[in-house]
Amino acid sequence: MPTLEDLRAEVEKLRTDLEERLDSVEDEASLDALRATFLGRKGRISQLFKKLGTLDPSERSEAGQLLNGLKKAANEAVARAKSESRSARLAERLDVERIDMSLPGAYRPLGHVHPLTRVQQEIETIFLRMGFSVATGPEIETEYHNFDALNIPVEHPARADWDTFYIDESTLLRPHTSPVQIRVMEQTEPPVRIICPGRCYRRDTQDATHSPVFHQVELLWVEEGLSLAHLKYVLELFTHEFFGEGYEMLFSGDYFPFTEPSVQVHIKAPGAAHWLEIMGAGMVDPAVLEAVGYDPETYTGFAFGLGIERMAMLKYGIDDIRVFLTNDLRFIRQF
Ligand code: DAH
Repeated sequence: MPTLEDLRAEVEKLRTDLEERLDSVEDEASLDALRATFLGRKGRISQLFKKLGTLDPSERSEAGQLLNGLKKAANEAVARAKSESRSARLAERLDVERIDMSLPGAYRPLGHVHPLTRVQQEIETIFLRMGFSVATGPEIETEYHNFDALNIPVEHPARADWDTFYIDESTLLRPHTSPVQIRVMEQTEPPVRIICPGRCYRRDTQDATHSPVFHQVELLWVEEGLSLAHLKYVLELFTHEFFGEGYEMLFSGDYFPFTEPSVQVHIKAPGAAHWLEIMGAGMVDPAVLEAVGYDPETYTGFAFGLGIERMAMLKYGIDDIRVFLTNDLRFIRQF
């Protein structure tokens, strides 16, 4: 019959065994296996508990305490080993996965607004501040909106002068943004106060000042009581905002079928010798107002059309319109 002393010896041996084996455990899986061997339901400690019944009843209470102590110590030792191996692994990972925040990042070049887009946005901002809103129209336009409604009769030489890209008999690539005036007026009652930026097309041969694809901004203000003086004031405000102080502005007479009177607007930089033409403008022709069902006895209005490329070239001293389209980043990045 085993005695308490025998049991003590076995407990001691188990303790040393466990310690030794814990020392050599290398990963979590073998630690789990070790726990099963010692602390599992059929493990070595459970086996010892089974021997309790074989002891002399007088020794059982002390033996029970001994085994409970052993079980507790073993549980703690395994738990400690587990957390140690975890923190060792964490330390290892931290070592390997450490991020050096001072290293330079991967270089990702930022995109850049094209100078034409930028000039268009500048123009929009100025007129939005004055209370205009932005309207758009189709680049494939009807002959009616592009010519007829703008008082350009079929036999009018201007119609040939536009040198338009026709798509078929009644549709074309718009050569100016003026048809947007018609589209907006057809849809709304006065007052109308809009600007219309957009792409235009003409059968021009490409050279330093001509491009078959270019951009315009159209302006239209129709309301009761507008005169040429209002147009002049709006334009003066605009040139000063866009080009800066010190620019002078001059109107000269011109002819457009959709305005009466019609003017050319010229500007002169401070100290410059020459006037430069920047846009066509005028009071909206009564025939145009009639075409969209506005009463020309009640309403008057004014309009202008300017070339965005032209404005950008004047503002930045660019002397060749082709640079906008050649996609040379050395040019683009200057803006
Ligand atoms: N549409 C004309 C062009 O492309 C420019 C223009 C002149 C527009 C006078 C206007 C205007 O609105 O009133 O040459």
